Amino acid sequence: MITVALPKGRTMQAALERFARAGVVPDEDFSSTRKLIVPASSAQARFLLLKDPDVPLYVERGAADVGVCGLDHVLESGADLLAPLDLGFGTCRLCLAAGRGTGVANGWRSGESGAELGRSLRVATKYPRLTARAFARRGVPVDIVPLSGSVELAAVADLADAIVDLVETGRTLEQNGLVVLEELLQVSARLVVNRASYRLKLEELLPVLERLGGPA
Ligand code: PRP
Repeated sequence: MITVALPKGRTMQAALERFARAGVVPDEDFSSTRKLIVPASSAQARFLLLKDPDVPLYVERGAADVGVCGLDHVLESGADLLAPLDLGFGTCRLCLAAGRGTGVANGWRSGESGAELGRSLRVATKYPRLTARAFARRGVPVDIVPLSGSVELAAVADLADAIVDLVETGRTLEQNGLVVLEELLQVSARLVVNRASYRLKLEELLPVLERLGGPA
C-alpha cells in the first residue's frame, strides 16, 4: 500500500491528473467528499488530503510514503526528504516585493535596504525560514512578520515595509500597488519521497515513480 500526501491548494488538480496517468486514481472525487483519506483501490494506494505546507512533515515522518509539494514548502520545512522529480507544474516565483515608489523599493534598487537608519526592515511572509536565510545572505537586518495569508496586505496596511511571497501571474502585486524587488527562488511542484519508504517499498514505488516522471 502506497500512501500519497496530496496538497489541497492550486496544484491539487494537476497532481491528480499526473497520478491518474500513473494509474493511481482516487475512488471518490475530492470535490464532492469531505473525506480526508480516499483509497485508490486499483493501484493499492490511498490519498491523504493536506494543506500544502503540511505535506513535507507527513512524508518526512512516514505518515505518507510520497507527496506532492512546491519547492517553497520543501525548503521552508527543512524536512529531510528525497525529491527525485520536478513535476513541472505549479511554477511561480518567491519574491521580495514592496510598494511602488516607496523608500524601500527605491533603496533596494540602489543597493540599500531602504529601512530607516538603525532599524531592521520589517518583512511580512509565510516563509520565515527562507526569508531569514535570504536576508542573512545579503547581510541586511530583518524583522520578520510571520503571517499565514493575504501577505500583500501587510505592505499596503503598513504592518511591514516589504513582503516575501509567491508571485504567479503578478496580478495580486499589481492590483495592490506592489512591485518585485528581487526574485529569491524559482518554484515548481516536486514529488517528495520518504527515505525509509524508498528503501523498503522500492518495488511498489518504482513503477509509479517512473510513470509520474514520464512525458506530460
Ligand atoms: C498566493 C500568493 C499570492 C498570490 C500570487 O496566494 O501567496 O498572494 O497567490 O498569485 P498571482 O501572482 O497570480 O496574483 P493564495 O491565493 O494561495 O492565497 P493566500 O494569500 O491566502 O495564501
